[in-house]
Amino acid sequence: MGRIPQNFIDELIARADIVEVIGARVQLKKAGREYKACCPFHNEKTPSFWVSPDKQFYHCFGCGKHGTVLGFLMDHDHMAFPEAVEELATRLGLEVPREGGVDSGARRADEPLFELMARVARFYEEGLARDARARQYLVQRGLAPETIARFGLGYAVNSWNEVLRRFGAAEPDRQRLTDAGLIVEREGGQMRDGERHYDRFRDRIMFPIRDARGRVIAFGGRIIDAGEPKYLNSPETVLFHKGRELYGIYETRRARANLTRLVVVEGYMDVVRLHQSGVDYALATLGTATTPEHFRRIFRLVPAVVFAFDGDRAGRAAAWRALQQALPEAREGREIRFLFLPEGHDPDTLIGAEGREAFEQRLSGAVPLSEYLVRELSEQSELAHADGRARFAESARPLFARVPEGVYRELLLERLAEVVGLPAQRLQELWTSGRNLAAPGAAPAAPARHRPPATRGAGRGSLVRQAIVRLLHYPAIAAQVSLAERAGLDASEEPGIDLLRELLDNLRERPAQISAQVIQRWSGRPGGEALQKLLEREEVITDAAAAAGELRGALERLAGLAAGRRLEALETKSRAGGLTQNELEEFQQLIQKMGHHDARGG
Ligand code: UTP
Ligand code: MN
Repeated sequence: MGRIPQNFIDELIARADIVEVIGARVQLKKAGREYKACCPFHNEKTPSFWVSPDKQFYHCFGCGKHGTVLGFLMDHDHMAFPEAVEELATRLGLEVPREGGVDSGARRADEPLFELMARVARFYEEGLARDARARQYLVQRGLAPETIARFGLGYAVNSWNEVLRRFGAAEPDRQRLTDAGLIVEREGGQMRDGERHYDRFRDRIMFPIRDARGRVIAFGGRIIDAGEPKYLNSPETVLFHKGRELYGIYETRRARANLTRLVVVEGYMDVVRLHQSGVDYALATLGTATTPEHFRRIFRLVPAVVFAFDGDRAGRAAAWRALQQALPEAREGREIRFLFLPEGHDPDTLIGAEGREAFEQRLSGAVPLSEYLVRELSEQSELAHADGRARFAESARPLFARVPEGVYRELLLERLAEVVGLPAQRLQELWTSGRNLAAPGAAPAAPARHRPPATRGAGRGSLVRQAIVRLLHYPAIAAQVSLAERAGLDASEEPGIDLLRELLDNLRERPAQISAQVIQRWSGRPGGEALQKLLEREEVITDAAAAAGELRGALERLAGLAAGRRLEALETKSRAGGLTQNELEEFQQLIQKMGHHDARGG
């Protein structure tokens, strides 16, 4: 594909309105000549995100993110550069020129189809507004008007030719309707009125399926009462390839800038209902297994995905299929988990019954791919016996073979070997030797080794970090730190202590009121990046008074630690050969101080 010419990009920036684009995604408030908002890129309670219509630029004084309207679309909607350009151009009704113009022909050929789909989608929306029964159905399914609007849900009236008549007046239009999958050609000739075509969707609730840029590319239509089929979908067309699209991807990308995980569910209704309840990062595959293309799209957006399955037998079968699809995608840095819902529930009904928090808790507790694999295979083999473990190894072999080389594969091998009760290397040797481990006379399995559970590092927040974070959020509290408290840090050797000391000294000398000032002072200096990162993290600090208390607590404990270390060193020295007069005095002072700490339970 040819490059996008620079002068077109300049034109786009000049013609686009950054306020309008950002305003469609973030609640902006006018403040003088500019607009402000709580920054969509980091967590904050007071707005430090500014949009300037004059400069056509945005800037966050909290996290430092800044850029043009194109940069915003890339960061906020997770778009690649050409996608962001396309998105803006579409809004402005411009065609993106390409140097060399390689595929601009193909692009133009799709254009009328996209346009037709958009018009038909609007027509379905109007149909819903006019039809009380269809609206009533959605109300009864628990959908709010905002949700219906956000997903562009509609209704196709009960007619054989409503769409055909309105959008297919001339032969080329008719051809387009066929290409878009909106009308169907009658087998066995014409109807009595001489018509060969009829509407595909009749008397159904319509779910427009949008591509990542929000263009309608297909529809799913649900029958209102009972009937077959429950859902009717557009066929594969030039616009729509089931194996590539994810229902809800557009709505998800728009919903939030800081996506960290996605949840993949089975149904349209599940997606819509989850979004409505605040789980606005839900997608669905369209009645197909998850394809490599789906995975590619998912992992381009986030490092973690949870597949949610109904608790029934069909759900379990689907989960096992998904696991097999997922194995080639597993690697370090990616997290693939499986969530099994209680019997009789799908995500739609479950979130209705127990709400967002409980549902998200389930998501967080979902089973990692490796554990699901082990669990499922263990259920099929009697692990207490050697031949059961051998059978386990046999059934794991073809699955393991699908995992690509790398750290994740090695870890998985270790986990499987642990269950089998063989050293990892031995298991792999046996696998590659091609012998059937479950056959009589095969390798004897040793009793399972036991490994202590891995312990994680010291959890969140060293004392130094706790102190810095509080100073960052409430720089004014530095004034409450006494000289003695500050001096207590002099002997400390904790990692990061230099930055903390510098920060304290700076803020005591030149008080600051807001975080952005601190960030500004450190920008480009050692520690500046670290401060910015710390500020971006979500922290639970209720107010300045609490922060001051916590800060002083942390300083006191740091001083205690330093004193304890110094005391130990002096003790060692005194045993080795004695202390100088100065050291002796220091020693006595320290003992006094430490006693003081101990008495207060420190
Ligand atoms: P479900 O039968 O689980 O439907 O199918 P659902 O999403 O829970 O729908 P409601 O809650 O009854 O309205 C899951 C998905 O499988 C596809 C659709 O994509 C559906 O959302 N499906 C199902 C079809 O394509 N055709 C069908 O006839 C049924
Ligand atoms: Mn359902």
